[in-house]
Amino acid sequence: MQVVSISSLKGGVGKTSVTLGLASAALAAGIPTLVVDLDPHADATTGLGVSAGSQLGIGEMLRNPRRVQLADQVVPSGWVENARRLAKNPAGRKPVLDVAMGSAYSGIYDRPDLGKRDLRRLTNLLSRVTGYGLVLIDCPPSLNGLTRMAWTASNRVLLVAEPGLFSVAGTERTMRALDLFREEFAPNLAPAGIIANRVRPSSNEHVFRLAEMKQMFGDLLLSPTIAEQANWQQIQGAAHSVHHWPGESAKQAAGTFDALVKNLMDTGSVRNRVMRRPVG
Ligand SMILES: Nc1ncnc2c1ncn2[C@@H]1O[C@H](COP(=O)(O)OP(=O)(O)OP(=O)(O)O)[C@@H](O)[C@H]1O
Ligand SMILES: [Mg+2]
Repeated sequence: MQVVSISSLKGGVGKTSVTLGLASAALAAGIPTLVVDLDPHADATTGLGVSAGSQLGIGEMLRNPRRVQLADQVVPSGWVENARRLAKNPAGRKPVLDVAMGSAYSGIYDRPDLGKRDLRRLTNLLSRVTGYGLVLIDCPPSLNGLTRMAWTASNRVLLVAEPGLFSVAGTERTMRALDLFREEFAPNLAPAGIIANRVRPSSNEHVFRLAEMKQMFGDLLLSPTIAEQANWQQIQGAAHSVHHWPGESAKQAAGTFDALVKNLMDTGSVRNRVMRRPVG
């Protein structure tokens, strides 16, 4: 199971949008996926078209991670029904895209001084979860307790950055914080991959910043980059999956996320193979 945190120090750079795009591609590829909405604003939960029943939000689950069974509290994304309807073989295997819903209560863990025991709350919750190939954790825009809790539970971190001066500088700071965190708490965590979002190839500033990022981060800058997309807010406002939205630009965006998910799953299987190899 690949557990991937989508983080950035800076707000509004596209963490939730990337989470939704990856979830959409995973659904299209038939990868059973769980989205954990760790941001107290719960934007990912809204975008995934979840109709909540009596299930607990993630904040309430984290209060009691040893007692609560996450599997009993997840809610299917509204996208799943659409995917089934559009499937060539709707009677075939049921696609899985579940959501551990965001909740304002999770905010109590977003402190800068969270202790080791608290940092493991999400790891404990996920330790009894099976059946998913991919877990995506949408983080709030800070390096406080919730993001560090997500990193503790992950084997991969994706940092989202826009190709602008402040965002690039913020990514460098986040990268340094993550390196320190790996040394102290998570030596098996892979180095972060960086996703450049809202790229406008016609902008000289973007071309310059992307070249700068390539120089700073080398292969950690993932390919392909995600283009600025005119109808993105409309798609998200309709709580729709980009793979089910009509038109050429949605199709191109869907293709970008397909490639990023493939990249994530491929590096995951390579790492698992390396980690399983016997020593000596
Ligand atoms: N590639 C894109 N093209 C066009 N609009 C985008 C793109 N990526 C994100 N946006 C828009 O930018 C806004 C912020 O994106 P999003 O909510 O995903 O950022 P975030 O990093 O999750 O924010 P926060 O830090 O508040 O959680 C949203 O309105 C979203 O629709
Ligand atoms: Mg967000």
